[in-house]
Amino acid sequence: MEIFIHDTPQAATRAAARTIAGLLGRKPEAVLGLATGDTMLALYDELVGLHRDEGLDFSRVTTFNLDEYVGLPPEHPDSYHSFMRERLFDRVNIRPQAVHIPDGQAADLSQVCVDYEEAIQEAGGIDLQLLGIGRNGHIGFNEPSSSLASRTRVTPLARQTLKDNRCHFHEEPMPSSAITMGIGTILQARQCLLLAFGSAKAKAVARAAEGPVTTMVPASALQFHPDCRFLLDPAAASKLKNQAYYASQQSDS
Ligand code: GLP
Repeated sequence: MEIFIHDTPQAATRAAARTIAGLLGRKPEAVLGLATGDTMLALYDELVGLHRDEGLDFSRVTTFNLDEYVGLPPEHPDSYHSFMRERLFDRVNIRPQAVHIPDGQAADLSQVCVDYEEAIQEAGGIDLQLLGIGRNGHIGFNEPSSSLASRTRVTPLARQTLKDNRCHFHEEPMPSSAITMGIGTILQARQCLLLAFGSAKAKAVARAAEGPVTTMVPASALQFHPDCRFLLDPAAASKLKNQAYYASQQSDS
C-alpha cells in the first residue's frame, strides 16, 4: 500500500485524474471500476475537463460501478445510475453499452449479482478501481463484518451509512439495502486508488492503512492488494502514525 498525502484535496484529485489519463493513454480499452459519493465529484469534473481540453478519449473504455441502492429505478434522481450519468457519462464520449451499474430494481437480484461478476470477467477484469471510504471503513457498500472474500451481492446498509447518506435523498425512506461488488471482487482489480478527504475520514483511513486487517474495517483488506494507493489530504491523513515515512517515500519517488 502506498500512502500519498497531498497538500489539498484538489492536488490529490488531479493526481488521481492523471493516473487514470495515463492508464487510458497506455490502454485505451481499459476497464475502469467507478465509485460514487461526494469525494468523486471533483475527480469526475477533472476527467471531463481533460476530455474537453486535451481529448482524453473514453470511446473504448468499459466501466463497472461499485454499487447501487436496491429498489431504485435507474432514472430515479437519487440512484447511482443518475449520479454517474450527470457527473460523468453524459459529459464524455463513453459508449452507453460499455457502462455497467448493478440493477437494484431487478426481480431476481441474486442473478444480477452473478451476471455482474461474469460481465467483469468477460471484460477482462478491472484495470483500475476507484474507491472512496465510509466513516465506518466501508468500501463500496461492504459494511463492517463483510467477508474479506465476498463477491457481488445484496447487503443491508449499516446504521452509520444510513445516517451519512440520508442527506443525498429527496424522499423518505431511503433504501436500506444495496447491491455491491464484494471485497474479493475489489481485490481482483489490477490497481486500486482510494481517495479520502477531510477529518471525518481520518479514523477510518488510519484503521484501514495501519490497523489490523479485519472484517470490522472492510478497507483494511486493501493491505493485501499488491498495487493500492491511498490519495489523501492532510486532514484525512491526520490520524496516521507513520506520516513521516509516507512523506519520505513521496520525496524519493
Ligand atoms: C457511499 C458509497 C461508497 C463511498 C462512500 C463515501 O457509501 N457507496 O462507495 O465510498 O459513500 O462517500 P463520500 O465520498 O460522500 O464521503
